[in-house]
Amino acid sequence: MSKVAPKVRRPKFDTEDMPEYYWNGNPVATHFLNSAHMVFPDGEKLFIRYVKKFSDQIQDPQLKERVKGFIGQEMSHSSVHEKIMQMLESRGLPAEEIRSWYAKTAYNDSENFFVNLFGDITGLTVTAGLEHWTSILAEAALENNSEVLSGIHPEMRRLLRWHAAEEIEHKSVAFDVLKTVDDRYFTRALGMIIATFYLGFYMAYGWAAFLTSDKKINWLEIPGHALNALPVAVQATMKFTAGFWRYFLPDFHPDDIENDEMAAQVMQEENQFLYEMKAG
Ligand SMILES: [Fe+2]
Ligand SMILES: [Fe+2]
Repeated sequence: MSKVAPKVRRPKFDTEDMPEYYWNGNPVATHFLNSAHMVFPDGEKLFIRYVKKFSDQIQDPQLKERVKGFIGQEMSHSSVHEKIMQMLESRGLPAEEIRSWYAKTAYNDSENFFVNLFGDITGLTVTAGLEHWTSILAEAALENNSEVLSGIHPEMRRLLRWHAAEEIEHKSVAFDVLKTVDDRYFTRALGMIIATFYLGFYMAYGWAAFLTSDKKINWLEIPGHALNALPVAVQATMKFTAGFWRYFLPDFHPDDIENDEMAAQVMQEENQFLYEMKAG
């Protein structure tokens, strides 16, 4: 299949006027997103590490170019999410402390454990699984005229739309690298199972850690905020469940999911807020 190499862009982005609870004034929803900001930078570094590790086994020149674009996009995402973490830290949340436990247990401990057990291919197949997750999340965020993102502060919304659209642009790169080096169903399925467990666990951890370390929260208001976020959460969970199982279909390929036009449209709308960089 012919696919163009993903373009590397960087968003112009200003956090100064962003309110503390940038998702509809809702701390429950905002801290969920803060947990995603925490998970991304180290996760994206993992993707880069393992795609790079196997890149010398790729013969197809087109896939080589797509890998370059993929690495450039993930580097860009990682550095922008780092900036959000710095913003949270400067506003009195222990973002770095929360992140350091995640980084230690997920990468120093768990990554080493799985790589010792199954080899480096585990890192690549987990990357392919997580890339499927980011593509599902991206689609959930962008579809239905961005209903999910509608209550988010415009600067953060733009940032998320850019990241989501790029996730869709490069959704099949890690998968194609995996297929090139190890085409076994077992390898693919194992990666998705590990990816899902760890993503779910660390998202829940980050969410709880941000909520409980936020001294400004009025806990009496939390049930109301949780109730307000519930419709979006239910809708998203249904989508996540369907997307998860789809990955296990024997002939699954990320490019069979028809969302490329939606991503291209978003990029066009956000164009003035992005500038392009050289990949590689
Ligand atoms: Fe990313
Ligand atoms: Fe990605």
